Amino acid sequence: MKKILVVGAGGQIGSELTSHLRKMYGDSNVVAADIRRNTNISSDGPFVELDILEAQRLAYIVHKYDIDTIFNLVALLSATGEKNPSLAWKINMGALMNTLEVATLYQCAVFTPSSIGAFGPTTPKDKTPQDTIMRPTTMYGVCKVTGELLADYYHQRYNIDTRSVRFPGIISNVTLPGGGTTDYAVEIYYEAVKSGKFVCPIPSGMYMDMMYMPDALDACVQLMEADPSKLVHRNSFNIASMSFEPEMIAAAIKKRMPGFEMTYEVDPVKEAIAESWPNSLDDTCAREEWGWCPKWNLETMTDDMLKVIGRKHKEGLI
Ligand code: SER
Repeated sequence: MKKILVVGAGGQIGSELTSHLRKMYGDSNVVAADIRRNTNISSDGPFVELDILEAQRLAYIVHKYDIDTIFNLVALLSATGEKNPSLAWKINMGALMNTLEVATLYQCAVFTPSSIGAFGPTTPKDKTPQDTIMRPTTMYGVCKVTGELLADYYHQRYNIDTRSVRFPGIISNVTLPGGGTTDYAVEIYYEAVKSGKFVCPIPSGMYMDMMYMPDALDACVQLMEADPSKLVHRNSFNIASMSFEPEMIAAAIKKRMPGFEMTYEVDPVKEAIAESWPNSLDDTCAREEWGWCPKWNLETMTDDMLKVIGRKHKEGLI
């Protein structure tokens, strides 16, 4: 990776990935793109306005900046996708198709995240294997499975260097996620700091895989820098670092903030989505093929989240 384009640079992952890549590859070598500028996008390097559904403009930007790697992070997440499935298809698949087509034209490598949402109710729930049944029941998941197949197709057919991971819920403290089923695991920390209380939309006992942002960023870079001759899989790798249910994250917070209280008001749409997803993924292939090795767990993440969000709260930033 020498000249990188991050599309969706204002989103939860994009905002932090852009800064992370700029530290590693140089500010001017990482171009941030989003439909409009927002305050989450670091101003340390180039920014371009881009509606990724406009393929011509994407091609123009890739050509102008001599891009060799595209991170396509544009997506409507699972809960939003269920509110407007046709829009989710249009945006999620449109972004990917345009990325793959432009990548073929300019021989770029492509990273597009897949998700735990690519699995469905007939998938083995615990330690979900790398290669298994994928029959998702959400539009988000349908897009993710299609995306995995398309990215592999472009690799086989046009020799495009496509690579991807199946992200679990990503927990972070810079930019809030929006419209996801796993968002509760971010919101709980903000509410704990702000009000000492949290109303949880996910029922007690509902396990989902989660990951702290620093590990997610490492995964992106490590996979894209991996020796291609070692990659048996490409689109997409299971990765995992922690699996928990609401009571467990609440207990981790309570341990550090004894007054914290959580109640439930279950959102039936999110409940149904979460129910259809695995409890935990088996990430052996990622470990073997490119050295995936997460560093954070629920305890260390909770320490860090409460510290960072507590500081932001004191400074009046949230
Ligand atoms: N975080 C996503 C969601 O909840 C899953 O990949 O939709």
